[in-house]
Amino acid sequence: MTSNPRPLVAGNWKMHGLLASIGEIEAVAAGYDAELRARAELVVCPPATLLALARPIAADVGLGGQDCHDEESGAHTGDISARMLADAGATYVIVGHSERRAAYGESDALVRAKAEAASRAGLTPIVCVGETRFDREAGRAVEIVGRQVDGSVPWSAPPERLVIAYEPVWAIGTGLTPTPRDVADMHGAIRARLETGFGAGNGGATRILYGGSVKPANAAELLRAPDVDGALVGGASLKAADFLGIAGAYR
Ligand code: 13P
Repeated sequence: MTSNPRPLVAGNWKMHGLLASIGEIEAVAAGYDAELRARAELVVCPPATLLALARPIAADVGLGGQDCHDEESGAHTGDISARMLADAGATYVIVGHSERRAAYGESDALVRAKAEAASRAGLTPIVCVGETRFDREAGRAVEIVGRQVDGSVPWSAPPERLVIAYEPVWAIGTGLTPTPRDVADMHGAIRARLETGFGAGNGGATRILYGGSVKPANAAELLRAPDVDGALVGGASLKAADFLGIAGAYR
């Protein structure tokens, strides 16, 4: 259960999107009608190069970055700070995506520092956690994800200004998904950690998203599971019709 009023459906475009792709954000905004606005919050996280261009056409669709540095500015060639993302129009930023944890060796401590930097810049961090197939087959999924939550969450941030995305690594881009029961079990375990970390009665304000091969065809089943407060969508967020189809599970 959550005390946060609206679920969140966020699209992570990853390293996809050129100027011509701005039309997809325009199409999402056009399809985000009053009924859907009342039921779900929509956010698109395009490459940072498109944020400032997307800002005037995104209308009620929120924008987010996909990563940020843990410092506000400095000699960090190629990096982008949370403040820069906010300046370009973002209100959210994804941190600790498994692709970054794997490719750049991002630790829980670094992810937490990034999430804290995001909070300082006025952004809501979407902190990603998730087990590998090896962890799940070893029966250690809840333990591994619990450790990631403990180490990655910016506990000084207000719980309502934090989003957790549970993304099993083996479900990302594979077409495989956990059963709704497995998703509910993991989200329940994450919720319990949040209650411990933020104090009993406060963990319900943090939205916990499910991510990994969410499509229009499986969205309703996954999003209906207990303690699932929305979705973080990769591939299916690149086309406005599919992204809106997923969000349509809340209609
Ligand atoms: P897919 O929806 O393409 O599986 O990607 C999920 C993801 O990594 C979102 O951050």
